[in-house]
Amino acid sequence: MAQRLISGESQPDDIDLSLRPRRLDDFVGQAHVKDNLSIAIQASKIRGEPLDHVVIYGPPGLGKTTLAHIIAHEMDSEIRVTSGPAIERAGDMAAILTGLQPGSVLFIDEIHRLHRVVEEVLYSAMEDFFLSWMVGKGLAARSVNLRINPFTLVGATTRFSLLSAPLRDRFGSVFRLEYYQPADMKIIVSRSARILEMEADPDGLDEIASRSRGTPRIANRLLKRTRDYALVMADNRVTGDVARAGLEQLSVDKLGLDQSDHRLLSSLIDKFDGGPVGLETLAASINEDSDTIMDVLEPYLLQLGFLDRTPRGRMATRAAYEYLGKTYQRAEPSDQSRLAGL
Ligand SMILES: Nc1ncnc2c1ncn2[C@@H]1O[C@H](COP(=O)(O)OP(=O)(O)OP(=O)(O)O)[C@@H](O)[C@H]1O
Ligand SMILES: [Mg+2]
Repeated sequence: MAQRLISGESQPDDIDLSLRPRRLDDFVGQAHVKDNLSIAIQASKIRGEPLDHVVIYGPPGLGKTTLAHIIAHEMDSEIRVTSGPAIERAGDMAAILTGLQPGSVLFIDEIHRLHRVVEEVLYSAMEDFFLSWMVGKGLAARSVNLRINPFTLVGATTRFSLLSAPLRDRFGSVFRLEYYQPADMKIIVSRSARILEMEADPDGLDEIASRSRGTPRIANRLLKRTRDYALVMADNRVTGDVARAGLEQLSVDKLGLDQSDHRLLSSLIDKFDGGPVGLETLAASINEDSDTIMDVLEPYLLQLGFLDRTPRGRMATRAAYEYLGKTYQRAEPSDQSRLAGL
């Protein structure tokens, strides 16, 4: 898919480390996660032990990587960063683990994509800080056991359900990030505007916050694009009107939906009579990748209550019809069963 302005997924020009909160106190929102993490970190510091392994999951751009770095920072530990698909062999995993300093944080992004053989090396390492693997074949095979330094594994994933049960069970805490509340989005946008030294009115910032799909990464991106628009088309000040005009220009509507979302909902309603329709059929009808639909488009549409995932397929809700200004003619379930003579 071409790079969408309102995709939560990371894009090359998003890299702006100055916007990333460094301490837990600067991390806005997600109070539940923050409080539990803060207690766990303080307890482990008092005990002088490494923090228990943590897995963080949720849609792209909500702060998983940010939290991993914050954990290391708060623990005064060094952090090693890698990702599931980057570790190809069991030996590579073993090399990473034996190289860790006591108390280090090992951050594995996209942990659901670890290869099975690589994952198996992690089991004893996570549980007992012990490596155990077989070298050689047949009669010459022998097992090698090695003690490693205590460490904290921080795993991040957008697909928690794809984690195998043995891996999942070895994490001491599981944190789920939610889309941010509107009030938190406003704080995030104001904070970023301040760091970027933007001239902006509260009204302009609110407009950006409310069109950012509850996702900080998108907020930061829209903020920068609006700043460009203000520089070229206005007098470099992001007012409410400038923000609205700039975001209209970028085809981001007032709920943060763009053309891809509109295409998906319109297709569902116009071509499939609101559904239910299978994911693959829907994907083909709008020429979109089914993984993209599932990971990027759907979570937010579900959150808005515009879409239902049913066993028989995807369905548009009454709210979606109303938002797109279409007439909702669907018979209620009770009418359907009456019509079917049930
Ligand atoms: N709670 C927050 N407060 C302020 N800014 C935040 C917060 N969470 C995330 N951000 C900002 O959003 C950006 C994206 O966050 P991050 O890279 O941690 O997302 P992610 O969940 O790891 O995404 P992905 O699934 O794509 O890896 C960060 O660079 C940071 O600037
Ligand atoms: Mg990340």
